[in-house]
Amino acid sequence: MNITIFGSGYVGLVTAACFADAGNDVLCVDVDAAKVERLRRGECPIYEPGLEELLVSNAQAGRLRFTTSAAEGVAHGLYQFIAVGTPPSEDGSADMKYVLAVAKSIGHHMDDYRIVVSKSTVPVGTADRVRDTLAAELAGRGKTIEFDVVSNPEFLKEGAAVADFNKPDRVIVGVSSEKAADLMHALYAPFNRNHDKMIVMDLRSSELTKYAANAMLATKISFMNEMANLAERVGADIEKVRVGIGSDPRIGFHFIYPGCGYGGSCFPKDVKALAHTASTVGFEASLLNSVEAVNKAQKNRLFEKMQKHFGSLQGKTIALWGLAFKPRTDDMREAPSRDLMEAVWAAGGKIRAYDPVAMHETEKLYGKRADLVLASSPEEAVKGADALAVVTEWRVFQSPNFERIAKAMKHPVIFDGRNLYEPKFVEQAGIAYYAIGRGRA
Ligand code: UDX
Repeated sequence: MNITIFGSGYVGLVTAACFADAGNDVLCVDVDAAKVERLRRGECPIYEPGLEELLVSNAQAGRLRFTTSAAEGVAHGLYQFIAVGTPPSEDGSADMKYVLAVAKSIGHHMDDYRIVVSKSTVPVGTADRVRDTLAAELAGRGKTIEFDVVSNPEFLKEGAAVADFNKPDRVIVGVSSEKAADLMHALYAPFNRNHDKMIVMDLRSSELTKYAANAMLATKISFMNEMANLAERVGADIEKVRVGIGSDPRIGFHFIYPGCGYGGSCFPKDVKALAHTASTVGFEASLLNSVEAVNKAQKNRLFEKMQKHFGSLQGKTIALWGLAFKPRTDDMREAPSRDLMEAVWAAGGKIRAYDPVAMHETEKLYGKRADLVLASSPEEAVKGADALAVVTEWRVFQSPNFERIAKAMKHPVIFDGRNLYEPKFVEQAGIAYYAIGRGRA
């Protein structure tokens, strides 16, 4: 099948690579000429395990191409995917200008039936706006051409994106015609083999499903972070509590890990956008607002603990293990490491950081500065530091040699934002240990 994908960001590239790998003929359209050039050379602009190999092999097989030409894109695909960005506006709402620009462009160039599929995370009602924008453009050209608009939100996780796309838990499809539902079934057949994972519904329910899923997951995390903060004050261990409650299948073990707050390109943005959508229809989403407020405060927890421990951070050097918002990605968007670094700098402290893949991104964000050293290894980062803070649970940080760390640091103390270590073992090495919801507040 011929597929066009507008937007070569995270979702667009993974979608393109996986559809091409299933034998489809895929054309990616992006306005960024430099990015298109890189992709044509076989370079993947993002760090995502397994993606570059898929992009290269499918491009070599002639099933995956890249262009800046919207006209070429509209001419190519029966399926026109919209996977462009929806950055947050000032007021927290998602900015739809790129999505609607693609809709307009499809209306401008199409000469035949097209099925327009929205993969970007878009506020409820966007499919209707896409339809109206496209119809207005067609009307302006004096054309009446049939088309369908479909909502098909993406649930992939960074770091596991290719596997998530190839083996989805469910494929949500919002449609307003049977023809569109049939076309989506045909497209997803290779990913939908053993039992039917496609859930077909109306457009608005599909759009809300994506936000509700992310908001639910963010709520679980903020709930656990609140319990962790309470556990510290009442002398309980949140890690015991986590296992205790997770064994109830109604609660489950997933997404109840307390930590130094959730980050990334989705949860923070989507929780705010959904709360904003609620406010536009005169509904106050008080739970969502609290989830966001709890997370904002949680991103400051490690810093608060440091301040309490040291009194002042003036002149102190903090070793930082982990910069990316989670392991297996170089994504720094809304990463808790940023809140911590910025707070330490504001308090007159210095950072010696190590991350397996996100150091480039960090340099891009902050440039070269005297109070930021990017170390060549986890051991290098702790040399001469006053404290070690762990904010991303990369595997390489999971089993450190605590004796060596204790010797390398001036005042051995670890602030663990991911509860990676057994407090007893850390303390046996003569290191003071602060985690989230385990003893020391
Ligand atoms: C998320 C959703 O999981 C995915 O379905 C959606 O399509 C996009 O948003 P992603 O942003 O890649 O994916 O990251 P995810 O693995 O969900 O983690 C988000 C954040 O929550 C990370 O900062 C992570 O550290 C944090 N987290 C996750 C916790 O603090 N505790 C947990 O128990 C789980």
